[in-house]
Amino acid sequence: MAQLWGGRFTKETDQLVYQFNASISFDQKLYRQDIRGSMAHVRMLAKQKILTEEERDRILEGLEGILRDVESGELLITQEYEDIHSFVEANLIDRIGDVGKKLHTGRSRNDQVALDMRLYIRDEVQETDALLKKLLEVLLRIMKEHTETIMPGFTHLQKAQPITLAHHMGAYFEMFRRDQMRLLDLRERMNYCPLGAGALAGTTYPLDREYTAELLGFYGPMLNSMDAVSDRDYLIEYLSAMSTVMMHLSRFCEEMILWNSNEYRFVEIDDAYSTGSSIMPQKKNPDIAELVRGKTGRVYGALMSLLTTLKGIPLAYNKDMQEDKELVFDAIDTTKGCIALFTGMLHTIHFCKERMKDSARHGFTNATDAADYLVNHGVPFRDAHGIVGRLVLLCIEKGIALDDLPLEEYQKISPVFGQDVYEAISMETCVNKRLTIGGPGKEAMEQVIGIYEKYLNEM
Ligand code: ARG
Repeated sequence: MAQLWGGRFTKETDQLVYQFNASISFDQKLYRQDIRGSMAHVRMLAKQKILTEEERDRILEGLEGILRDVESGELLITQEYEDIHSFVEANLIDRIGDVGKKLHTGRSRNDQVALDMRLYIRDEVQETDALLKKLLEVLLRIMKEHTETIMPGFTHLQKAQPITLAHHMGAYFEMFRRDQMRLLDLRERMNYCPLGAGALAGTTYPLDREYTAELLGFYGPMLNSMDAVSDRDYLIEYLSAMSTVMMHLSRFCEEMILWNSNEYRFVEIDDAYSTGSSIMPQKKNPDIAELVRGKTGRVYGALMSLLTTLKGIPLAYNKDMQEDKELVFDAIDTTKGCIALFTGMLHTIHFCKERMKDSARHGFTNATDAADYLVNHGVPFRDAHGIVGRLVLLCIEKGIALDDLPLEEYQKISPVFGQDVYEAISMETCVNKRLTIGGPGKEAMEQVIGIYEKYLNEM
C-alpha cells in the first residue's frame, strides 16, 4: 500500500477498507491530466519563488519521464497505490529523490482531482464534438443525394403527408447540431481553473492562480475555493448532453430498425452492421441499432446516479465525489462508441427509394393537398375536408389510391374537381409546393443544405 497520509495514524488501514477507498483502478485514466496539472503547478511555484528554478527543472524532468514511461508501457500503473495522484508523486520521489516531495506544496488532492477531471472532460468534449461532426457529414451527404426521394412523413406512426428523405435526415441534422452547441456551451461555462483552491480554503502561499489557469488553457481561476473543490455541475451538464445525444441516437435507431423490417423495407442495413440468428437461417438482425438504443439507458443511468450522489453533500469536498469517475468514464466511452458505430451504419445503409415512394402513394398522404385543391377553387376548408374524407372512404372500399380514382368519381362527390386535380395531388407536387423554409420542397431544402454546408465548413 502506498498512501500519502500515514503520519497521524497508529494502525495500518484494514485491507478491505484500503480497497474500498482506493480509486487507482479507474482514476488511472487521468494520468496525463494529472501530470499536466502538476507541471503547471510547479512552474507557478518557481515563478513565485516558492521553489527554486533547479527544483522546478528537476521535478519537470521527473514528471516528463513518468509520462513518457507510462505512454511507452515501460511504467505500469499498479494497484498498490491509492490513486493516480499518489502513483505520480511516489514515482517522482523514486526518480528524483527528496526534491520530489516539494511537488505538493500549496496543493491538496481536492483541487488536484477537480483539475484533472476538468481537463479530462475538456478533452472529451472536443472528441465528442469531432465524432458528431462526422455524423453530420454523413447526414449532409445523404440529404444532398435525396432531395427528390419521396417518402411518407408520419405522425402517430401513421402516414401523414409526403416528404423527402433529405427532409427526414435534416431533422436529425438539427438534433445533432444542437448537441454540438450544447457541448460548446458547457465547455464555456466549465473552463475555469480550480487549482490553488487547496483542500477548501486556498493556501497561505502566494500562489499565482491566474498564471496556472493560463498555462492550462482556462479563462481564469474559479472564484470561490470551496466551490472549486466541490463543483461537479459540469459533469452533470456533460452527462445531460450525452444523454440527449443518446436519446437522439435511440430515436434514429428505432426508425432504422422499423425501416429495415420486412413490413417497411425502406432501408437495408449493410451486412457489416447486421448479425444472424443461431436458429433461423433467414434472419439478418439490426443488432447494432438495437444495442445503441439499449445503451441509452446506461447513459441516463449515469446522469441519474450522479445527480443522486451529489444531492445533499455539504460543502466542501466529500469522498462521495469520487463516485463521479466510473459513471462519467463509462458514459463517455459508451456514447462515443455509439456515435461512431451509428455513423458507420448510416454511412453504409441502402435506401430503397422505390419502396419509399410507393409507400407514400398508398397511404392517402396527399389527402391534405386534395382538400387544398378545393380550397384554391373557392370551397371553404371545412367543407373540403369533408369532401376529401368521403373520397378517401371510397378509395379504401375500392382498394386504390386517390391518384387512381377516375375523374367521374371525383365529380360525383364535388363538381369542382377538374382534370388538373391529378397534377395537384401528385407526390412530386405535394412535396415541391411546400416551399417555405423548413419544408421538404426541393428549393427550400437546397437552401437549408447550403446553410448546413457552411456550418460544417466553418466549424
Ligand atoms: N480519489 C479522490 C477523488 O476522486 C481524490 C481526492 C481525494 N481527496 C481526499 N481528501 N481524500 O475524489
